[in-house]
Amino acid sequence: MPKISNKGLSMPQSPIRKLVPFAEKAAKAGKSIYYLNIGQPDIKTPTIAMQAVKDADIEVLSYSRSEGSEQYRTKIANYYKNNDIHVKHDDIIVTTGGSEALLFAFGSIMDVDDEVIIPEPFYANYNGFSTASGVKVVPVISKIEDNFALPPIEEFEKLITPKTKAILICNPGNPTGYLYSKEEIEKLAAIVKKHDLFLIADEVYREFAYDGATHYSILQVDGLDDNAIVIDSVSKRYSMCGARIGCLVSKNKDVIATGLKFAQARLSPPTLAQIASEAALETPQSYFDDVIEEYVERRNVLIEELNKIEGVQVANPKGAFYCIAQLPVKNSDVFAQWLLEDFDVDGETVMVAPAAGFYSTPGVGLNQIRIAYVLNTESLKKAVNILKEALKVYKD
Ligand SMILES: Cc1ncc(COP(=O)(O)O)c(C=O)c1O
Repeated sequence: MPKISNKGLSMPQSPIRKLVPFAEKAAKAGKSIYYLNIGQPDIKTPTIAMQAVKDADIEVLSYSRSEGSEQYRTKIANYYKNNDIHVKHDDIIVTTGGSEALLFAFGSIMDVDDEVIIPEPFYANYNGFSTASGVKVVPVISKIEDNFALPPIEEFEKLITPKTKAILICNPGNPTGYLYSKEEIEKLAAIVKKHDLFLIADEVYREFAYDGATHYSILQVDGLDDNAIVIDSVSKRYSMCGARIGCLVSKNKDVIATGLKFAQARLSPPTLAQIASEAALETPQSYFDDVIEEYVERRNVLIEELNKIEGVQVANPKGAFYCIAQLPVKNSDVFAQWLLEDFDVDGETVMVAPAAGFYSTPGVGLNQIRIAYVLNTESLKKAVNILKEALKVYKD
């Protein structure tokens, strides 16, 4: 039998999705499940976006330009301007989700065996994208005790080698909910400038900043034009995960010219979804105000309820819609599977993402889970109660 590649064999499974077969089995057996494992918001997609697709009078559903339609990119540049980020349409490549923007960024700036430093825990698919690109992830650990704040800059400097090409951050952070301050971003900017590295910021949760804090983009740092690469997406902003539209943004012309070659190889981003995403840019501010209010309420309920459980430690998220919770269990992989297979409260159980897959350091995060607070507060209360009851009886 022909052999699978070593790269294929070393591709990690997504910790967010790997328990799906167990969830399907539990659901078939009649259990109802609170899905806290995946960042699929239950928020309604703006009507304006769906309507634009319905209204589209198209005879031939053609490819678009590889970099995305100029009209859409011009409007994206305007969206950034409204966020005090000053870029032009030709600093933007429209991609098939933030996921493809990450792949294009990695492909454009890193060769096989190059290294990218990432504060961990990090969005689990960074492991997958790194493996796919042959790039080595060098983690710098941020700790739950410090609310996952940026590790001291010296920790980054210690890890820089001749193979280091970039530092990658997620701001606000998935899975930590950490929101970097302007000072922290400036510290990172100084270090990438000093060592001539790229700074990639995954800013797909830009709007999701809570408690009056404002998001500060790496594209707002003076003098960072050659180093800064932003990953963006409509998935969470407009609850349009299925549209599969994102973008890569950089004022570094070489990055964009190289990214465009990757974009040309896959021909174009989805045409209908660009129509929806372009229309979504007209979404009124009141939509976001309501969404943020809803998420803050969910976060407050979730953290309050989790804190009531003995032996559970949780960091307070300041953005995005995730948190990492440390549980009194040895292996949250086994625990999460057990929740689906062997536990329920009145026929209901909960699905969470084991957190070890959000780390690249072996053995770290084994007693942690990631919770996505994408359900309403009533459901969250019920889900946390199930966790509480489960922890009372669970034996490692
Ligand atoms: C931090 C982060 N980056 C990127 C993505 C990819 O999103 P998409 O490809 O849907 O734009 C996600 C999805 O959950 C994410 O959480």
